[in-house]
Amino acid sequence: MPPPKLDLDWKEYGPFSFPVFYGQKAYNAWAGDTIQLTAAVVGTAVVFSFLARLGLSIWSYIKPSKLQVYCHSETGSWALVTGASDGIGRAFVDELLDRGFNVMLHGRNREKLERITKALAEQFPRRTIDFVVADASSLDHPEDAVVEKVQQLPGKLTVLVNNVGGVPTKPQYVSLHKITADSIDTQININARFPTQLIRALLPTLQENQPSIILTCGSAGGISGAPYIATYTATKAYVHNLTQSLKAEMVVEGFAPDKKYTKGVEVQGYIIGNTRSAQNTTEMPYFTASARECAKGCLARIGSGKALEYPTWKVAMQIGLMVTLPEAVTRKAVAKEMIARKTQAEKEE
Ligand SMILES: NC(=O)c1ccc[n+]([C@@H]2O[C@H](COP(=O)([O-])OP(=O)(O)OC[C@H]3O[C@@H](n4cnc5c(N)ncnc54)[C@H](OP(=O)(O)O)[C@@H]3O)[C@@H](O)[C@H]2O)c1
Repeated sequence: MPPPKLDLDWKEYGPFSFPVFYGQKAYNAWAGDTIQLTAAVVGTAVVFSFLARLGLSIWSYIKPSKLQVYCHSETGSWALVTGASDGIGRAFVDELLDRGFNVMLHGRNREKLERITKALAEQFPRRTIDFVVADASSLDHPEDAVVEKVQQLPGKLTVLVNNVGGVPTKPQYVSLHKITADSIDTQININARFPTQLIRALLPTLQENQPSIILTCGSAGGISGAPYIATYTATKAYVHNLTQSLKAEMVVEGFAPDKKYTKGVEVQGYIIGNTRSAQNTTEMPYFTASARECAKGCLARIGSGKALEYPTWKVAMQIGLMVTLPEAVTRKAVAKEMIARKTQAEKEE
């Protein structure tokens, strides 16, 4: 039933007669049958579309991962994980070995990589594990060493995890006018230049070995921006866009995965939230994940079809809140967190 119409004598309202006249007119128009019916139809469509999107989001956290389709080579399927000697990268290695892949670890510290490879070989005797040393911050095409090693693999590279990244420079939290020029270059190289060059160099191999998949590691900071780590957050926004563009490029170039993921080069990026790792020991109550939870969550999302995913529903909620709240509120909350981190880091340094 439509709401009742108003029948006020607007002339009685003295100085408010004009607002009452137009207010009543607008209200009565809104209360009319046509507008009520239109509002009901539009409202129902909005509610259904919201419920459908919510349902699809929940489904993406329940439906089985497509990771196993990339374990298809009879000569051995290989995953390459960059920045694999610690934190989330190290967790990706464990998860991938657990799921039947042979793994090549990339890092910068030969002794550390040797030690980890030896321990993993004992833990996973049926897998083949190798490593490659290349300084991702170097401008001297470190990706070449990785590609050379991939070409010698006894099997096929089908999974590339572009994990290396972060803020490897000291001080970790610093305003842009105080950071050194070299630190900026290092951060851009490790987070943006190296993954881009590595993907470029390995794409022909991944296309030949299809179905294959390229994963990238973005960050919540790449969505919101954050003071004292401006270079880092900007490189992560770059990673998000690189991922979306590359996924679109695979489609137009004829490398889109088919429905069952039996062919094509899939591209999926992760917007990673606060995760315990070698470079991040800060705790955000409720929202902090372990490196293993993060890697497990990323691999569980494979096959969602979306260019950018969240490792866990907690990160999805956090980002959802971030983009829904007024920008000034989000900026204030992020600033408070970053000031606390900077203060803590200065005490420890
Ligand atoms: N942790 C978080 O809260 C968080 C949040 C958002 C996004 N992420 C992203 O997740 C990814 C992993 O971060 P993480 O926190 O796990 O980092 P992490 O614990 O510091 O591990 C970084 C890994 O990269 C290696 N590495 C660092 N610099 C390198 C270089 N120049 N050349 C080659 N390897 C290098 C490290 O080697 P060593 O073992 O020799 O140090 C280590 O294996 C990054 O892309 C980061 O931006 C993390």
